[in-house]
Amino acid sequence: METSILSGIEASKALYSSLEGRITHLKNHGITPGLAAVLVGNNPASEIYVKNKTKKFEALGLKTDLFRLNEDISEKELLSLIEKLNSNVKFHGILVQLPLPKHIDSEKVLNAILPTKDVDGFHPENAGLLSIGKPRFIPCTPKGMMFILKHFNIHLNGKHVVVIGRSNIVGRPISILASLKELGNATVTLCHSGTKDLKYFSKQADVLVAALGSPEFVDASYIKEGVCILDVGINRIEKDGMSKIVGDVNQESVLGIASSLTPVPKGVGPMTIAMLVENTVLSAELLLN
Ligand code: GUN
Repeated sequence: METSILSGIEASKALYSSLEGRITHLKNHGITPGLAAVLVGNNPASEIYVKNKTKKFEALGLKTDLFRLNEDISEKELLSLIEKLNSNVKFHGILVQLPLPKHIDSEKVLNAILPTKDVDGFHPENAGLLSIGKPRFIPCTPKGMMFILKHFNIHLNGKHVVVIGRSNIVGRPISILASLKELGNATVTLCHSGTKDLKYFSKQADVLVAALGSPEFVDASYIKEGVCILDVGINRIEKDGMSKIVGDVNQESVLGIASSLTPVPKGVGPMTIAMLVENTVLSAELLLN
């Protein structure tokens, strides 16, 4: 079986062109969607993610400000910055890049973001709205994964979606999205580090989501013929004396068995950024309604 490659670059281009009219409409009403990105410390991966996000906003003519804070900033100072951003009308979205340094309580910080500016969709109010099937801001990575499936005409209705990983950022929200009647209507199994006999479940998947954060963990022995695989991992590893980025799937091993696969890089990653833009545009649109 030939495995088709589900390009996140191609899907994100389709999303960006659908956003053009919405952005023009907002600008005609004197609104330029704006994002405040907060980066604490100098985690190299976070630096790259945030830079890619702000670069995209600039390229689209949207407003973005990066707030860089020292690793040793106090929780109180960070909370006070968020208060200021909450009341600054130029910003329709606030993003605090994770992970935060250990001395800061991430939950407290995420909960301090105004739910109507929470374009990451991590605030309990937005997570709650998603879980009752009335989403406002959906976390960007799972929202992007749903977009990729739709773009490539992969329907979830009646399928068995098996998710490996239960994080609040990917695993749990994608399992909710896929199960929602209007969006996915799939049967969903959520597996995690406590799952016994993981292969028993993963081999049943029509659509397999690998979001466990373990380099090249999923290989041919975990899947059945014809599965669609969404590889959410971004792991930097040393291989043959070189540093490279790999997913949570051993991609070479599943080629020819899976029917389709998101590559790493250029798969789910570009969609995460595109959905951050979409959520920020959506937040600005809420002002017009
Ligand atoms: N760290 C890893 N993924 C994400 C994300 O989607 N948003 C934020 N804010 N931090 C992250």
